[in-house]
Amino acid sequence: MNGNDVQSNHLVALLPGDGIGPEISRAVRKILSAAHAPVEFDVRLAGMTALESGDDLLPESTLDAIREHGVALKGPCTTPVGEGFRSVNVLIRKSLDLYAAVRPVRSLDGVPTRYEGVDLVVVRENTEGLYSGVENEITDGVVTTLKVATEKACLRIARWAFDFTRRRGRKKVTVFHKANIMKLTDGLFIRCARQVHEEEYPDVEYGELIIDAGCMRLVQDPTRFDVLLMENLYGDVASDLCAGMVGGLGVVPGSNIGEKIAVFEAVHGSAPDIAGQGLANPMALLMSAVMMLHHLGEKRDDPRCDEAADRIKAAYNRAMADGMKTGDLGGDLTTDAFSQAVIDRM
Ligand code: NAI
Repeated sequence: MNGNDVQSNHLVALLPGDGIGPEISRAVRKILSAAHAPVEFDVRLAGMTALESGDDLLPESTLDAIREHGVALKGPCTTPVGEGFRSVNVLIRKSLDLYAAVRPVRSLDGVPTRYEGVDLVVVRENTEGLYSGVENEITDGVVTTLKVATEKACLRIARWAFDFTRRRGRKKVTVFHKANIMKLTDGLFIRCARQVHEEEYPDVEYGELIIDAGCMRLVQDPTRFDVLLMENLYGDVASDLCAGMVGGLGVVPGSNIGEKIAVFEAVHGSAPDIAGQGLANPMALLMSAVMMLHHLGEKRDDPRCDEAADRIKAAYNRAMADGMKTGDLGGDLTTDAFSQAVIDRM
């Protein structure tokens, strides 16, 4: 590993994935290279591409590479239709204990939506809640799903959210919950958030909203929110809701973060309808790569990563503001033309 050696490049696992994944990965590599981002990619298979090569949907060698490098950039993976296949994303999160799903949501110049000035981050607990996977058929026609909350996981995600808020100079953490109904599970979630706030982060503002009221306030004025902290299901739903406020899944980055490993990913799918046509928008993967560079800059204490991230971010903001857009955003640029427009603005 490259560790703290600021002269060498950071080795990162790249999982291009399926469908448009390879096209947008190529575009992102080109832009990172033009920005002199100090990273090198170790390309690994995942998804249908892995399955078709005779390997598992998520090969153990791919997981090993992510473990070894500590950081990965992931394109979208097609989940095969049919019994017996779990989603690659779920497999990655579970295998590597990536307990924090982090989705920054920010308005972009040149992408008009109903809202302006949105700048929030959804932090979602990624390992338990209703997604524990414990389901039972009690009797014919009666099924249950178990919602799990553990003090350990609730404290750990609360600490992550408060720490992130303080480190990034953000101001406030707001928990969305339903503890008025789910008194034990969501009750534990907010008790842990309160405890972490009071004992460890009293300097960060803290608020709570019952999720239904919280969603109403979000759509009325998302600019009132800063960092949102939620358990798994609420976070899953709310992070897409928030993405919709700034232009959809094509223009938001995503990440799944654990103690030692972080996977940055485009959250949209593999878009089989346009795959191979050079039409895909690489923005979401590019924004995820920028997040990854900031993560590397912070964890490996390497300012070159932050400098490259800032260069790329400024360039894509200028490109978008200049109306340089792919078809999904109402423009007519190809993947390559958009990438070149970003590079031209560095
Ligand atoms: P999708 O996100 O692939 O496509 C929905 C629509 O958005 C399509 O019209 C597509 O062309 C468009 N689109 C998506 N990303 C785009 C981009 N970067 N540029 C331009 N247009 C874009 O969702 P869908 O159709 O539900 O899923 C297709 C496959 O992707 C499925 O196999 C699904 O399991 C998988 N998937 C994978 C995800 C991941 O790996 N993170 C997330 C969501 C779905």
